[in-house]
Amino acid sequence: MTDAPDSPALAGRNLLVAVGGGIAAYKAVLLVRALQERGASVRVAMTRAATRFVGPVTFTGLTGTPALTELWDPNYAGELHVELGAWADAIVVCPATMNLLARAAHGHADDVVLATLSCATGPVLYAPAMHARMWAQPATQRAVALLAEAGATFAGPTVGRLASGEKGAGRLAEPEDVADAVVRVLHEASRKADMSGRQVLVSAGPTYEDLDPVRYLGNRASGKMGFALAAAAAARGAEVTLVAGPCTLRTPPGVHRVDVRSAREMERAILDGFARADAVVMAAAVADYRPVAVSEGKIKKTDQPLQLTLMRNPDILAGLGRLRKDGRPVLVGFALETDNVIAHARLKLDKKGVDLIVANHPEDGFGGDENVVSLVDAQGAEKLPRLRKRAIGDRIWDRVVARLGP
Ligand code: C5P
Repeated sequence: MTDAPDSPALAGRNLLVAVGGGIAAYKAVLLVRALQERGASVRVAMTRAATRFVGPVTFTGLTGTPALTELWDPNYAGELHVELGAWADAIVVCPATMNLLARAAHGHADDVVLATLSCATGPVLYAPAMHARMWAQPATQRAVALLAEAGATFAGPTVGRLASGEKGAGRLAEPEDVADAVVRVLHEASRKADMSGRQVLVSAGPTYEDLDPVRYLGNRASGKMGFALAAAAAARGAEVTLVAGPCTLRTPPGVHRVDVRSAREMERAILDGFARADAVVMAAAVADYRPVAVSEGKIKKTDQPLQLTLMRNPDILAGLGRLRKDGRPVLVGFALETDNVIAHARLKLDKKGVDLIVANHPEDGFGGDENVVSLVDAQGAEKLPRLRKRAIGDRIWDRVVARLGP
């Protein structure tokens, strides 16, 4: 995706390449070149371990500015990490080692690379490289999930030959591909504020319907999709209210959270914000039924079968579809079906009177960080590739933004 030479894709961009300490550090040299060929001004910061693999002088020579290896320069009066974080339009961490990912995920800031990451003002892209077993470690995957949740993007790793000679997932993405990913990330970031001034309501998680003081009927929703949607909208400048059923996920930064338990509580909270909302996305798995009566005391067990009588809960989304006027707010629902996914989503679109249905493809199960979905509206169905939930959230908001117009 390199642009024509007369309009390089990264012209006028300041990029910091942060080099971690792994064998793949030598490829950071090629990345610097690839970014420069795309028109960027590049500076380089290195961890101490990185300097064991590639000499800073190589980067100094390539970039024409000293490669930074230390926070402690007695001759420097400013705050290097703060200035560098503000200077860089984006930071590319290449290679991102297991150690570097873990430290960044947990807010360590004790060298020039980590301190600068903590002061980043633009997007951060990680290009991981490590042995396949290190990449597969739960600790690494947790770090990646935390960083992704905070808005970072990842290029690779790819599957291929590793430094050890074995094959596996952990190989650094090709420097040209990392450079292309930087172009994409900056492009995405430039539409970052496209939801500022918009108010959105997002529901997430399960609902619990109490049977007695200790028991309830619930479902297996993790809440991750709704929380990712809320985080994505807040990152794009929207004022976000997240109506959350029972779940233990952390509230994304800048999001106003309202905790609810039952479907009827969720309905009340949604109706509260409905009049002010530009868009409502119902990602919650709302319980369709609730017990007709909630027992005041704990229901005693007997040897007889226990009969529960359930009644329908309000369909919150369909209610909003009936209530709204002139297509405002924009309404988005989810559909989880085991067969004829798209056909069912189309029916739901009409039946609930909404603009967009996000249809989950059933191969996926529950609770993961990625998903395969189709976006179904009156114009047709678009099946998205397997994506992280945050990226799915962005694709959904792209559709909402397009509907809201300027
Ligand atoms: O009808 P179904 O449950 O398959 O529809 C799913 C969509 O409708 C989801 O967006 C869900 O949040 C919403 N819904 C609702 N109220 C209900 C049931 C589902 O708003 N009682």
